[in-house]
Amino acid sequence: MGKNDDHHPLLHTTPEGAVKIPVPSVSVGRESGQARSGMKTAILIWLTLQNSIHTLLIRYSRAREVDAMFVSTVAVWLTEVIKCIICLFLVAQEETPRRFVHALKTQILQQPYDTMKVCIPAMIYIVQNNLFYVAASHLDAATFMITSQLKIFTAAIFTVIILRRSLNRTQWFALAVLFAGVSLVQLQGTKSKEIAGESPFIGFVAVVVACCLSGFAGIYFEKILKGSAPVSLWMRNVQMAVFAIPSSFIAIYMQDAKTVNEYGLLYGFDSIVWLTVLWYGIGGLSVAVCIKYADNIAKNFATSVAIVLSTIGSMFLFDFIPSLTFLLGAALVIFSIFLYSSHQSMVAALGRLRGEIPSTKEAFCL
Ligand code: C5P
Repeated sequence: MGKNDDHHPLLHTTPEGAVKIPVPSVSVGRESGQARSGMKTAILIWLTLQNSIHTLLIRYSRAREVDAMFVSTVAVWLTEVIKCIICLFLVAQEETPRRFVHALKTQILQQPYDTMKVCIPAMIYIVQNNLFYVAASHLDAATFMITSQLKIFTAAIFTVIILRRSLNRTQWFALAVLFAGVSLVQLQGTKSKEIAGESPFIGFVAVVVACCLSGFAGIYFEKILKGSAPVSLWMRNVQMAVFAIPSSFIAIYMQDAKTVNEYGLLYGFDSIVWLTVLWYGIGGLSVAVCIKYADNIAKNFATSVAIVLSTIGSMFLFDFIPSLTFLLGAALVIFSIFLYSSHQSMVAALGRLRGEIPSTKEAFCL
């Protein structure tokens, strides 16, 4: 399989940049292409909804006034544990009990080099997840959400560098329009009052570093996932957990040893925090599925639409009246999606003109 196959099931770009569309020889190929396309759309819609709630939850869990504020490093560790349990369960669904143990042995223990490959994104995600909690504690919701969108660019830059996919000028422009649109939407948010001890500078540095790490780890994981080794997505995540669980546990004692020793690991954990942790875990696995069936850039479009939706949601919940800025921002986000995907349609149309594409229905699949 070529490196572009996962990006677009029917488009193959030759090293010279020409588009070559093979006519599917059997209907099974076409059906699986359609099934994959349906899956891609479904996961993008799900990620959009999931993220809308996630963004509100993480900020609410950090900014509300409570007697005991939970330790964020513990939340990150528990998220990793929850993700691992879910992935083990899903791997077990695919195998009989005997083959399940065998699969764990052969694909994790007996392939140390392959397991080590996922060590890099696993470690980076731990640092990134901790930094996002730091950022959410030091920045107001709007600033936090705008600056987190820098990952739109970091993912694109690493797509070009690591995956060697090229983006044309229209697509870069579409990403810039997306960033501008999401930022305008955020301006709709009310300025939350500054909480004692908040340092916007620390928050800003944390979020910028987290975005660079997010872009790199996401693309690196995409490269591993779409590489040649036939390891399932869930097994890849179990491999990641082998590193992520111990290292996130060590991070608790490096950063918050005093609080945890004095009050215990679950200090400040109430139903909202448990919900945030569970939702964060589900979100992480949704990102993994999205990277498999679509890619990191499509994932960022989904999360941007999520921001528009969560702002609209908060209008209903908190009687927000949409400002002109919000409407302009939302329009830009929607426009950027059409702009970015119009490139794919243009490539398909060019291929058709050259007689290389069988039909629109078979070739268009974003
Ligand atoms: O939006 P962003 O790409 O930065 O989000 C990445 C999130 O997805 C992180 O919380 C990371 O732990 C999670 N993730 C995961 N499993 C993967 C890839 C990402 O849990 N295979």
